Amino acid sequence: MIESPYILGIETSCDETAAAVARGRNLLSNVVASQVDIHARYGGIVPEVASRQHILAILPVVDRALGQANIKPGDLKAIAVTYGPGLAGSLMVGVNAAKALALAWDIPLIAVNHLEAHIYANWVIEDNGGEEEPVFPLLCLIVSGGHSDIVFMRDHLEYFLLGRTRDDAAGEAFDKAARLLGLGYPGGPAVQKAAEHGDGKRVKLPRAWLRGSDDFSFSGMKTALLRLVTSETLSTSPGSHPNVFDAAAAFQESVVEVLAGKAAAIARRRGVKCLLLSGGVAANGPLRRSLQETSPVPVFIPSLSLCTDNAAMVAVCGYYYWMAGRLSGLNLDVVPGLPLTTQQGSSGVFSQ
Ligand code: KG4
Ligand code: ZN
Repeated sequence: MIESPYILGIETSCDETAAAVARGRNLLSNVVASQVDIHARYGGIVPEVASRQHILAILPVVDRALGQANIKPGDLKAIAVTYGPGLAGSLMVGVNAAKALALAWDIPLIAVNHLEAHIYANWVIEDNGGEEEPVFPLLCLIVSGGHSDIVFMRDHLEYFLLGRTRDDAAGEAFDKAARLLGLGYPGGPAVQKAAEHGDGKRVKLPRAWLRGSDDFSFSGMKTALLRLVTSETLSTSPGSHPNVFDAAAAFQESVVEVLAGKAAAIARRRGVKCLLLSGGVAANGPLRRSLQETSPVPVFIPSLSLCTDNAAMVAVCGYYYWMAGRLSGLNLDVVPGLPLTTQQGSSGVFSQ
């Protein structure tokens, strides 16, 4: 039997500098240097600042990932790196570091799309995790700061985009709602925390079902929230009405209801065997619970640390590329606007 390879994953698409080592699906180390405190000062990510922080952090983070996995560079079979989508300057730091290390250690590179890496977070086996794995055909709901996509997969590394957001991504909507409500950055966790003290039934917000389409839209909810905060002074005391906590709860409920409701309906219609959730917004507690309740098929959701950006998902996705013999050359470039469906291997033929 061929032994599973040790693969180093590198992820720098946005504001987390991350490196991880996996042996096949088994995660051996997972290091993330977060820049969240730095960007919080500006109320959002400043791309130029993010790239410079990646430059400072990348080599120490890789070093720590190898150390925690207790392996030497000579044990590695390949380096998997995110080459898009993401911030160009941030991606360049990770890709160039990966190229330099691949050249120095004489091992191949594997180019990984950030969105497929999010999907593959569902294949990562952690220390205490079981080995249960998603079964094809499956549906995956990717909800992150930059994307809200519904993806059908017939097999490994084959993606068919069924629906996407027509405006804001789900995470972006959470971040904007948090800003409107004065809850700080990053918005998703702040809205979830505020919502715990609120009653969503006390504030009416619309739901964008977009009947007949598998797409999403979140800008209407955001505009309704904007109208609310400009027409009313929201109290910061949970006892008085209208208050910020009720508004946060109402916003979260409307986003969660649409995401979970549509994903479950599409899963039923497509006759898939399981439903996967991934991306930063998959860390949202009510969304995790709601999808479990509404899905007609078993649901897979990564642990919290594997929902937001990390390199474990890149390393494990790289393992499936390695098994398929799909390696990349050292002339790899970054593709900031890389869509999921242009991956090699997607047949492009999919009957609706
Ligand atoms: O996947 P991710 O780490 O980065 C991108 O690829 O975009 O996702 C970040 C997004 C942010 O918009 C953040 O507000 C959101 O995920 N997020 C959450 C939660 N934790 C992170 N949204 C809702 N609830 C959460 N608990
Ligand atoms: Zn992400």
